Amino acid sequence: MILAIETSCDDSAIALIGPEGKIYYEGLSSQIDAHAKYGGVVPEIASRKHLLSLPLLLNELKSLPEFDPAKLRAIAVTQSPGLVGSVLVGLSWAKGLSWAWDKPLIPVDHLEGHLLAPFLDHPDLAFPYLGLIASGGHTHLVYVEGLGKYKLVGKTMDDALGEAYDKVAKMLGFEYPGGPIVDKIAGQSKTASIKFPIPLTRRKTFNFSFSGLKTAVRNEATRLGIRVEGTKLLQYEDYLEMPTEKKALIEDICNSFQECCAKIVANRFEEAMKILNPTRLVLTGGVAANQGIREKLADLAHRKGATLYCPTPAHCTDNAAMIGQVAFQYLEKNQGICPDPLSLAASPKSTLGLMEVDPLFDLENK
Ligand code: KG4
Ligand code: ZN
Repeated sequence: MILAIETSCDDSAIALIGPEGKIYYEGLSSQIDAHAKYGGVVPEIASRKHLLSLPLLLNELKSLPEFDPAKLRAIAVTQSPGLVGSVLVGLSWAKGLSWAWDKPLIPVDHLEGHLLAPFLDHPDLAFPYLGLIASGGHTHLVYVEGLGKYKLVGKTMDDALGEAYDKVAKMLGFEYPGGPIVDKIAGQSKTASIKFPIPLTRRKTFNFSFSGLKTAVRNEATRLGIRVEGTKLLQYEDYLEMPTEKKALIEDICNSFQECCAKIVANRFEEAMKILNPTRLVLTGGVAANQGIREKLADLAHRKGATLYCPTPAHCTDNAAMIGQVAFQYLEKNQGICPDPLSLAASPKSTLGLMEVDPLFDLENK
């Protein structure tokens, strides 16, 4: 068994990964309620909450009659990237447990966790594949050749896709995280009548940009007299109570925005597929739970004779099982164990080397 710990942002999570990479146990403590009223994650609150919830999660785990620390193969923990205070809490706990139980420690990059998360729910998935990590902090299109062999195809030049969803939700008056709310409201709409501009259409690039689209949504919301920002943030249930006409306007905005995002994502995949010819596509990260984007990508995969793999919704958003999955795959190759665990430092930046677009995909500088 591998014990995995994830605390990179606002969810404290632990998991036990058994032999063959299967999930044996998962525990999660969400902080959404603590941050919702601020319209985003407050780093200081997040670290403090991790400090309170991690011991509770570990106590729950220890109360399982089958759990025996002596039988652990290793402890895996998110070391980067994330809110550094949050990462530090999980890493410190993992170091302590590794020392106390005399077990190897495997530091894991959170982005690699998202990239490999679909293996948790799809044991038939295999390398290579073309995958998009779409979360609150990242929009990275990555060619995954094998374990640890990643090429950056394109990335966002401004907002991450999840961030754009959260900001659109906020300008319509909704609380954090707004992505799931916009997705649910978009699903109620029968129209997507607003033609928002598709960014970067005149440039040869696999990169993404969402800030212009976000501004276009703001302008449209202002024109339609729909609330742009405000003090008391609303929940999905508040939308259900709105007058029918207002609901219809909000639904149209959400669905038109969603349609535009789905087109952007599908277009980038389609263009990259012309170069890479992958038979497997992956959509992962919090935004992979999005119905509209999933459907558009499933259509593309179907047209091109490829298969789309998405984690189950619980494994799209932050979770510890994906961290355990990464550790499991490295351990199978006798890799991943940190020789000097106590010297490990938390890092806000990814260590995967996905900073620069691979020259093969840098069309603008060719
Ligand atoms: O992967 P994740 O849990 O945390 C990060 O590593 O960032 O992703 C959270 C992000 C948030 O921006 C949230 O609004 C977005 O994923 N999200 C969604 C949906 N569910 C979560 N965005 C669009 N549609 C959804 N259904
Ligand atoms: Zn994440």
